[in-house]
Amino acid sequence: MLRYSLCFALLLFASQAFSQEVDEATRAKDARRVKALLRLENVDLDTLPEAKASLVRHLETIQGTDEYLELIRRFKLKAAVPQLVKLAIDKGEETLGVEAAKTLLDFAASDAIDNELAGKDSARAAKLIAAIGLAADPRANDLLEATVQNEERAMPIRSAAAAAIGLNKPGKEKLLKIVEAGKLPKELNFVAANLLLNDPALKDRASKFLTLPATADSKPLPPVAELVKRTGDVAAGKQLFNTTGTCVKCHKVRGEGKEVGPDLSEIGSKLSKDAFYVSILDPSAGISHNYETYTFLLADGTVLNGIMVSQTDAEFQVKTAEAIVRKIPRDEVEEFKKSHISLMPADLQKLLTAQNLVDVVEYLTTLKKQ
Ligand code: HEC
Repeated sequence: MLRYSLCFALLLFASQAFSQEVDEATRAKDARRVKALLRLENVDLDTLPEAKASLVRHLETIQGTDEYLELIRRFKLKAAVPQLVKLAIDKGEETLGVEAAKTLLDFAASDAIDNELAGKDSARAAKLIAAIGLAADPRANDLLEATVQNEERAMPIRSAAAAAIGLNKPGKEKLLKIVEAGKLPKELNFVAANLLLNDPALKDRASKFLTLPATADSKPLPPVAELVKRTGDVAAGKQLFNTTGTCVKCHKVRGEGKEVGPDLSEIGSKLSKDAFYVSILDPSAGISHNYETYTFLLADGTVLNGIMVSQTDAEFQVKTAEAIVRKIPRDEVEEFKKSHISLMPADLQKLLTAQNLVDVVEYLTTLKKQ
């Protein structure tokens, strides 16, 4: 198997290097040969080197399409695992990406998945986990369960794993077991509460350990699945965004507001309703790229949190939650590290009622590209 994979990888490499030289006639011949291959039962590609070369060249020309995935699946081309990982990440919110994730499970590609999870880019890793979750395939549950509990994984990855495992019934049971065993880190309480308290069969058990945060009128917040069904008042939402909700202290919308977090002028084109609630109620679950918080311990004992604006040999420039850029000379810094906690407060719902929150989200959904 290893030899076969190597050979396939080499072919893939060679075909990439020379892909410009594949002329129209060859392309047409490749496509015909692949069609012929598809008509055969139980093909052993290793006995058909020419057909295999055609298949490899053909795959090159159709990367990232439904047909590509179909051929990879049909011929069990495990050498394509890296491409499948990429597809699952890049198209993870579409059927194609989720199918790619499912194929990774079919191919038992846990090493490739683990590699991605242990890598530097936790946002991409979290996307891979989300795509695996959307495949709602119990075969992924052991991997997801281990990821939820793995202290070496970044918090957004663990959070994505908790959300993902909760998408199928046995997964929810596993998540509840982790909660009952006291093994869930508190950063994941919201994700878990949101899933488990929304399940009539598990609610009673879960509520012994988990609650959703209280809102301004001291009532516990309904689960997100409940909130997304409600409609809000856009004008009221805009008003709340700029006043009671304090959002304007950190977000710009069409030129107004301060810029601690991302500009939200076009956020309605980027996030779904569901994602809005999670962004607001559980900001640390998926910290936007470039907005990671750093914690500095200064020589005088002060602890400072902020978003890194720049760093040179001489100093750091750090933006605080008040939208102030602080310049800190390096020699005043005892220690600094990236934090897994967002600079966006995790308890903004305390300022708002459930209906207020629904209004704010309704307003945000109207902020589209103009
Ligand atoms: C103290 C500053 C602060 C306040 C107050 C604040 N935010 Fe944020 N917000 C941030 C930061 C920083 C980020 C980026 C880090 C992250 O994703 O958690 C962010 C991220 C977001 C995102 C995700 C954006 C994206 O591109 O994915 C949304 C949506 C959002 N905030 C909405 C709100 C709303 C609505 C309010 C008011 C109810 C609010 N924020 C209040 C700082 C703040």
